Amino acid sequence: MANRGGFSSRLGFIMAAAGSAVGLGNIWGFPYEVGQGGGAAFVVMYLIFCFVLCYPVMVTEIAIGRKTQKNPVGAFNALGYKKWNFVGKMGIFSGFLILSFYNVIAGWAFGYVYEMAIGNFDIATHFSEFVQDVFKVGAYGMVFMATTAYVVSKGISGGIEKAAKFLMPSLLIMILLIVGYALTLPNAMAGVEFYLVPDFSKITTSVVISALGQAFFSLSLGMGALITYGSYVNKKENIVSAAALITLADVGIAVLAGMMIFPLIGFMTDGAMDNVGSGPGLIFETLPQIFGTIGGTLGVVAGTLFFVLLCFAALTSTVSLLEVPVAYVVDEKNIRRSRAVWLVAGAIFLIGIPSLLGNGYSDFFTNFMTYPGSETATNFLGFVNSLANDSLLPLGGCLIVFFAAHVWKKHNLDEELSHGAPNYKGSFLQKYLNFAVGYLAPAVLGFIFVMTVLETYFGISIF
Ligand code: TRP
Repeated sequence: MANRGGFSSRLGFIMAAAGSAVGLGNIWGFPYEVGQGGGAAFVVMYLIFCFVLCYPVMVTEIAIGRKTQKNPVGAFNALGYKKWNFVGKMGIFSGFLILSFYNVIAGWAFGYVYEMAIGNFDIATHFSEFVQDVFKVGAYGMVFMATTAYVVSKGISGGIEKAAKFLMPSLLIMILLIVGYALTLPNAMAGVEFYLVPDFSKITTSVVISALGQAFFSLSLGMGALITYGSYVNKKENIVSAAALITLADVGIAVLAGMMIFPLIGFMTDGAMDNVGSGPGLIFETLPQIFGTIGGTLGVVAGTLFFVLLCFAALTSTVSLLEVPVAYVVDEKNIRRSRAVWLVAGAIFLIGIPSLLGNGYSDFFTNFMTYPGSETATNFLGFVNSLANDSLLPLGGCLIVFFAAHVWKKHNLDEELSHGAPNYKGSFLQKYLNFAVGYLAPAVLGFIFVMTVLETYFGISIF
């Protein structure tokens, strides 16, 4: 077999996969979804989904990838079920969509590096003007996409792994420092209460839907990103424990990101917590304030460093998103990696233009559509974001686990998982995963998917 490259070590794989998982989804997406989803009740749903449903999906994706050593489409073919490769194709399509809007937000974060470096903390109240300056933020996005393409073109252990190993721990330390500082501010506790004391009456269908979508998005599941990363993993690797570490790292960073944002909102609103639901602009409107409060050179340094690290977290995610279609084109269409990367990246950048324009610059893309039953319009970015998170990824996850348990068959999955995990067979975890992959996850994911489509696109609620 041709040398496709591979991760050089166990730690390298875990760091790269955790790098894929940890990104804007944790620091930008999670707090805003919590804000819109009513606080701690959303957090509880999210945690349940991550550990109970998503962890089994993650294990399955990595196992399929390692078994077949292929991209998500090739993987189904290699197992002998060509008819199922539509799941992989759907994944590649989702990857295109996700990266197209994700890169726009990464461009904003990149632009904030400069704003922080010049001490422009006032940007907090000028975010909407910032995103309307489409030539400027578009240029930031272009640089970001080019950087992603460059890293992916360097191949697996050369690019992705090296960057992840060093940057992930730095981000964690930085977040911990900010959490520590935020907690000392007046009225921080109002934020902590909103974030950690659940009011279960706030759990509605749409909270359930977005908590599940957020869990899938944050863990990079449902589109074959981890099938692809799994394809570079060594047989000696223990997949079940690696997946557990990746899940914990991802959930941990998301939870900490909330501990950074909500106390700060409590502080800014004198405990009234009235800006929590402000949506996708949330971190861009709150974080500069904390650096402004720190003030002086320290504020500038901290703010700049934070957004630099956020960009790196985003980069390890965009790299994994780009890697999926690139691996597909390289494996299946026989195009050289170095060419495939730039072609695919260019196409995705173009698909992202409506997401770039729909933040006030173009009225059409800003008020792109109104969901049935909703009073306000959603912009193009929000539409694609929720189409991917809430519908495509859970559907992909549902099909992947169903396929693994009932088409490829559980004993084959178990066989693959026991490589590198000598005690796996016969363990409690094996029994749980058999149940979750075989019945629980397909049933619950399938049910929520149907509910999501009915509720979101037809305005029909079952509950
Ligand atoms: N998980 C990443 C984040 O939270 C985004 C991401 C990277 C992703 N690869 C993915 C999402 C694959 C879905 C599928 O920022």
